[in-house]
Amino acid sequence: MARRFFVGGNFKMNGTKESIKAIVNNLNEAKTDGDVEVVIAPPALYLEVARDEVDKFNIKVAAQNVSDKPNGAYTGEISVAQLKDIDIRWTILGHSERRTLLGETDEVVAAKTKAAVDGGISVIWCCGESLQEREAGNTVAVVEKQLAALAAKLSGEDDWKKIVIAYEPIWAIGTGKVATVQQAQEVHEAIRKWLAKNVSEKVADETRILYGGSVNGKNCKDLAKEKDIDGFLVGGASLKPEFVDIINSNL
Ligand code: G3P
Repeated sequence: MARRFFVGGNFKMNGTKESIKAIVNNLNEAKTDGDVEVVIAPPALYLEVARDEVDKFNIKVAAQNVSDKPNGAYTGEISVAQLKDIDIRWTILGHSERRTLLGETDEVVAAKTKAAVDGGISVIWCCGESLQEREAGNTVAVVEKQLAALAAKLSGEDDWKKIVIAYEPIWAIGTGKVATVQQAQEVHEAIRKWLAKNVSEKVADETRILYGGSVNGKNCKDLAKEKDIDGFLVGGASLKPEFVDIINSNL
């Protein structure tokens, strides 16, 4: 089946109220492909600002994280119910920066993802290997281990319908060293094969698999041509006008 092209913008810990409004207004006014599903993730402080600024039906706003706890003494955390309270229905989870800097394990990420999905929040679920793991030839094994932890928590095809996978090689994030088209396609194909074998052919066929890691307005077109690359999760370039080119990269 044809999978709807998907482009995520992970603003990370960047921006101000005014700069985020300006980015959203640029997206509102730009000539973008209406068939593309666009999800932008500002810092939590600005979720409502971005939500109120968006005026295109195909652009949604996501959090960059959510707790697996329903509420309580978890200073600094945000719950699924609180995201829904402000009409935010997407979140990024398992970004490598949270896995490495904040010690989020495969199991913690899986628990957060299950809590989000159970609460009706769709998830851009991130995976990927370090440079050392790639140089040791362990890329696919690392990603499969992350997938296995996620699959162990999710129950059935309905859960997977709320998941978009983002493969983000850690060595390509923020470095300007984008994966080659072959490197990216190889891992995307391995992810899809793993899904077919361990979940179902339907989930494998329907799940969008994004590439993330130094995507920009120049390298996106060649990557978008690959059969198992269904879009992008973009960091730095999502803060720039070239984000529009990335949204249109599948035209
Ligand atoms: O989540 C997307 C991000 O990790 C990629 O960052 O700046 O390399 O596009 P960047």
